[in-house]
Amino acid sequence: MKKANSEVLEFINSRRSYPTLVISPPVPTREELLELLKAAARVPDHGKLEPWRFLVIEQPKLTEVAERLRVRGLELGKAESLVGKASEVFAKASLVVAVIGSPDLSAKIPAVEQQLSAGAACLSLLNAALASGWAASWVTGFGAHDGAFREEVFNLASHEFIAGFVHIGTAGAPPPDRPRPDIAAITEWYDG
Ligand SMILES: Cc1cc2nc3c(=O)[nH]c(=O)nc-3n(C[C@H](O)[C@H](O)[C@H](O)COP(=O)(O)O)c2cc1C
Repeated sequence: MKKANSEVLEFINSRRSYPTLVISPPVPTREELLELLKAAARVPDHGKLEPWRFLVIEQPKLTEVAERLRVRGLELGKAESLVGKASEVFAKASLVVAVIGSPDLSAKIPAVEQQLSAGAACLSLLNAALASGWAASWVTGFGAHDGAFREEVFNLASHEFIAGFVHIGTAGAPPPDRPRPDIAAITEWYDG
């Protein structure tokens, strides 16, 4: 018999992210984080390929990542202000989970489906953290899209990618909500 879970629906319909720079300690313990990662891995995964993995980045490694991002950004000719902001996001963080998409390119399942599963893992991690009372945010930035940076700093293989950096910690009141999509405007009924 159909049975609604109104608390889950209420959460889904009111959840929102926090700006990375307002997320501070305390952060989840390793034991608490493992529970969040378990939730993150409970996502649709066509072919049961598990085309994702997690890299937990803590201090002082985050400060090192920040510095290497700054150097790489300048090397790439990015504006100093952009590089500074992107670097600060790592330097000021206490706990970041890099969700790494690790598709099996020899599998029958199309790569895009494996990429979508990695995105689903990011959202599940974000939602599990928010539902547990943590502040959290899913971001990427130019470092995530730079193959050399991914390989040198995070040791990613050339076919792997960063689906997201999920920041987790504590913050004050949730930020004001942003405008949400007009569902009628993006929905078409294809009914002949
Ligand atoms: C794949 C992906 C990458 C993102 N990268 C960034 C980013 O680098 N910087 C940023 O400010 N927001 C980024 N965002 C958007 C943030 O998640 C943003 O805070 C979002 O609007 C929050 O939405 P929510 O409140 O519904 O969770 C990204 C979102 C996605 C899905």
